[in-house]
Amino acid sequence: MTERRIRLEVQRYRPETDSEPTWESYDVPAREDWVVLDALNYIKDHLDGTLSYRWSCRMAVCGSCGMMVNGKPVLACKAFLRDYPETVRVAPMANLAVHRDLIGDMETFATRLPTVKPFLIPEVEPPQEDVFRQQSSELAVYRQFTMCINCLLCYAACPQVGLNENYLGPSILALAHRYNRDSRDGGRAEREEVTASEDGIWECTFVGECSEVCPKGVDPAGAIQQMKLASSLDWISRPLKRGDKS
Ligand code: SF4
Ligand code: FES
Repeated sequence: MTERRIRLEVQRYRPETDSEPTWESYDVPAREDWVVLDALNYIKDHLDGTLSYRWSCRMAVCGSCGMMVNGKPVLACKAFLRDYPETVRVAPMANLAVHRDLIGDMETFATRLPTVKPFLIPEVEPPQEDVFRQQSSELAVYRQFTMCINCLLCYAACPQVGLNENYLGPSILALAHRYNRDSRDGGRAEREEVTASEDGIWECTFVGECSEVCPKGVDPAGAIQQMKLASSLDWISRPLKRGDKS
């Protein structure tokens, strides 16, 4: 049986020497069980060793192989070639600066993430035995938000990230929400100083694409809407609280 082959059109760009990105075509095998990452590895091993891209786990866990395939943000290790036509276009993730070829900038994300304090800020000392016990129903409230692998597909899919480079964006806000909803945490007011600032939740126009593309079933759009509601309720109840004190 003749092996199916496809053409991979890959965006190439080296900012130190290239004035703009170009496209390069490669003819590669499209085996039934191959994913886009296998095709890129084939190019690297057999056709062009200069092609640059990131990957590590090959099993949708490390979050490093995100890229645009035929215009959609996907994990290259999860995108089967059998689901694509004869020609496949591979580009770096949208809305991220490009370091080289398919490698996008993660530094901006890594710098902003700590600003929302993505860790537990307990309000009270742990009870006896130095542990907080948690019911499974309390875990269920935030569990899906713990599944994020920081792949940034949601950033590539979000039109607001494209419009405002300072927007905190879906996964950072979803992670802040993960801690806000944790029954052991008391840090929501501290986080809100950042998450409800002008580059936070109110920038989101609820397009919802972030949740659509997430490979781990996280719902950042839902998290952001829940945060908007909580923040609005805080704002409404503030005069009442001030009245109580006077
Ligand atoms: S929320 Fe989903 S799409 Fe966004 S970084 Fe986390 S895992 Fe990736
Ligand atoms: S290689 Fe780790 S998520 Fe794709």
